[in-house]
Amino acid sequence: MLIARRIVGGDSPIAICVPAHSALRRLVTPLDVRRSTLKEPEHGLLRELVEQAAQHDGPIIEVGTLIGATTTRMALWKSARQRIITVDSYRRNPWGLSPELHYSLTAQVLFFLVETGQIESGANGEGAILSNL
Ligand SMILES: C[S@@+](CC[C@H](N)C(=O)[O-])C[C@H]1O[C@@H](n2cnc3c(N)ncnc32)[C@H](O)[C@@H]1O
Repeated sequence: MLIARRIVGGDSPIAICVPAHSALRRLVTPLDVRRSTLKEPEHGLLRELVEQAAQHDGPIIEVGTLIGATTTRMALWKSARQRIITVDSYRRNPWGLSPELHYSLTAQVLFFLVETGQIESGANGEGAILSNL
């Protein structure tokens, strides 16, 4: 929702639009990466599972990258030869980011891991990322 505000100055009034309170609040709320991800007490179990996965040849698949918080943890715990494939639909996120912004932010978070070949990351359907398994 937008609130139109009128600024009078000079010869003619100028109308500008500013976001209403709730939209403005969302704009200035810091992006809290702790939202919608695993909580600290859950990390131990996930670590065990990732370490057990080292016995298997195939990659670790994560469906639902969000911003890559858990992907980066799993990358730390996985064996050197194991890959992680992570996908997300990028349709919704807790911060109200557009799908394009959400995708590019996640790509930036995961950039090093992708570039060093430790993980593959993409949007569902993109390049049929899961079809080569
Ligand atoms: C709870 S968050 C994932 C949190 C992330 N795994 C972590 O631990 O940091 C759920 C994610 O799943 C994604 N998602 C939901 N349905 C999906 C689907 N069918 N395919 C791919 N991703 C999906 C959402 O876009 C969202 O980013």
